[in-house]
Amino acid sequence: MTAAVRLAPSILSADFTRLGEQVREAEAAGAACIHIDVMDGRFVPPITLGLPIVEAVRRVTSLPLDVHLMIEQPERHAGAFMDAGGDLINVHVEAAPHLHRIAREVRRRGKLAGACLNPGTPVAALEELLPELDQVIVMAVNPGWSGQKFIEGALPKVRRLRRMIDEAGLATQIEIDGGVTAENAPACAAAGADVLVAASAVFNDSGSVAENMSRLREALSRVEAG
Ligand code: DX5
Ligand code: ZN
Repeated sequence: MTAAVRLAPSILSADFTRLGEQVREAEAAGAACIHIDVMDGRFVPPITLGLPIVEAVRRVTSLPLDVHLMIEQPERHAGAFMDAGGDLINVHVEAAPHLHRIAREVRRRGKLAGACLNPGTPVAALEELLPELDQVIVMAVNPGWSGQKFIEGALPKVRRLRRMIDEAGLATQIEIDGGVTAENAPACAAAGADVLVAASAVFNDSGSVAENMSRLREALSRVEAG
């Protein structure tokens, strides 16, 4: 096992009446970055967060902002999300025939380029793109909502992607997004994930952000210890 798996809390399940506080709690509890789920009501059914939220989160944390664009025509909006303070700009393979160009533009601006794979999209869809990517998000739910059940088929995909990245000698990191819990986090780590996104497992009524993150980290430390 190499470096410890990092956690990316997704604010989609946060209490938006006190968003700043929730982001600071996640930062204090050791979040690697803050994951922001942008949905346009077209690529996925719901409309969620947009530029004002990215700008607001930017003002309360120095953590990298991991912007997950679940939108059509992402090339029209990627620049605005970078201007708003996004650090990792993640675009869905299914929404972007010119993902190569977007990724180059993101890197040209000194940001990190990410690509996301829906559960039904094979890893082969981005094999040629990997050298242009800092991150791949493997969706373990069909995007649109937090609190859905983890799709087990994400794990063999992560294993295949891990092999492709390692064989190519690349540093592209793998993030798993959707349905992550303390129960399946160890399997995600063992499959080769570098970062785990979690919304409902971090922001919920059953524990504080710190308690919930330490539950995840504790589950991960058991695998990492062997
Ligand atoms: C799903 C989003 C996820 C979601 C995760 O469409 O991309 O980031 O917020 O939520 P949980 O962790 O509750 O599955
Ligand atoms: Zn997401």
